[in-house]
Amino acid sequence: MREAVVFGASGQIGAALLPRLQASGWRVHAVSRRAPVATTQGAAGDAAAVHWLRGDLAHVGGLPAGVDAIFSCGPLDHFARWYAKGTVAAPRVVAFGSTSVSVKQASGDDAERALAARLAEAESRLWASAVAHGAAVTVLRPTLVYGAGRDATLSRIAALARRRGVFVLPHDARGLRQPVHVDDLAAAAEATIAAPAEVVGGRGYDLPGGESLAYRDMVLRVLAALDPPAALWTLPSPLFALAVRIARASGRLHGFGPQALARLREDLVFDAGMAQRDIGYAPRAFTPTAAMLAPPSDVPADGR
Ligand SMILES: NC(=O)c1ccc[n+]([C@@H]2O[C@H](COP(=O)([O-])OP(=O)(O)OC[C@H]3O[C@@H](n4cnc5c(N)ncnc54)[C@H](OP(=O)(O)O)[C@@H]3O)[C@@H](O)[C@H]2O)c1
Repeated sequence: MREAVVFGASGQIGAALLPRLQASGWRVHAVSRRAPVATTQGAAGDAAAVHWLRGDLAHVGGLPAGVDAIFSCGPLDHFARWYAKGTVAAPRVVAFGSTSVSVKQASGDDAERALAARLAEAESRLWASAVAHGAAVTVLRPTLVYGAGRDATLSRIAALARRRGVFVLPHDARGLRQPVHVDDLAAAAEATIAAPAEVVGGRGYDLPGGESLAYRDMVLRVLAALDPPAALWTLPSPLFALAVRIARASGRLHGFGPQALARLREDLVFDAGMAQRDIGYAPRAFTPTAAMLAPPSDVPADGR
């Protein structure tokens, strides 16, 4: 029986990956600081069970000395630091990064540039560790993730729209987006392990969704999926920018700075060609349902 360690197993991508691995007969050691009660299963001795280990990546005990694969579905920089230590041997590693590594590298916002730099440094560290450990390491970089009702963009938009019946955007929110479903990412992680190590090792793959659409159209599909559907109001851009500034100043809006506002007009488009060629990546078109945008019942109200 193949054995895997999955970091970030309680996250939206990790939670989609676990049942796939179990269905394929993997024995899984799942790590996160919080093991979700509703999906905790079995004990270390059960063949097809998930063995949950609680802990921060920096100090997690109880891991086996060697497994067939390690999957990282949590913060890439933490994982790269842990992996450099070589605590658990594995011939294959699949780690989720982000297309933010390129999108935010030239951002005017210090925090966004720092995030891009952290991701780039983490990737470099992983490639170097892969050579040192003689392992095939692959980085998967999703675009905008949705599908588990826990993402910070589309599910947040859905939550606001559900409460007010409307969502507001500037007229020119027409930058292209490629939202990608968590199950397509989980399938990509599994397909990466199934692909030959010499093909996918030492490579990073951008994983966009199966459709590119304008931000405004993406939001319209989210609003149409709700029950009852919500309406979209659009405002002239200067008026929208003023409303955002006021909401931020009054503490009613967090994390939507001028760079994020400007990006609503920018195309953030990535090519799936390499992933399609090497791992048969075939993401779905963007057809959200209310269930994909609603918080799962096992996630406590504070989101943790
Ligand atoms: N969401 C997106 O739109 C998006 C887009 C592109 C790339 N990505 C990348 O894809 C990966 C997974 O994203 P996601 O949205 O599925 O993440 P998520 O839902 O936020 O889950 C993150 C997971 O990592 C765990 N975690 C966080 N800090 C940890 C730590 N210090 N030690 C151990 N575990 C820790 C979390 O569990 P606990 O909190 O219980 O520890 C959780 O299981 C991340 O690398 C993310 O950057 C996400």
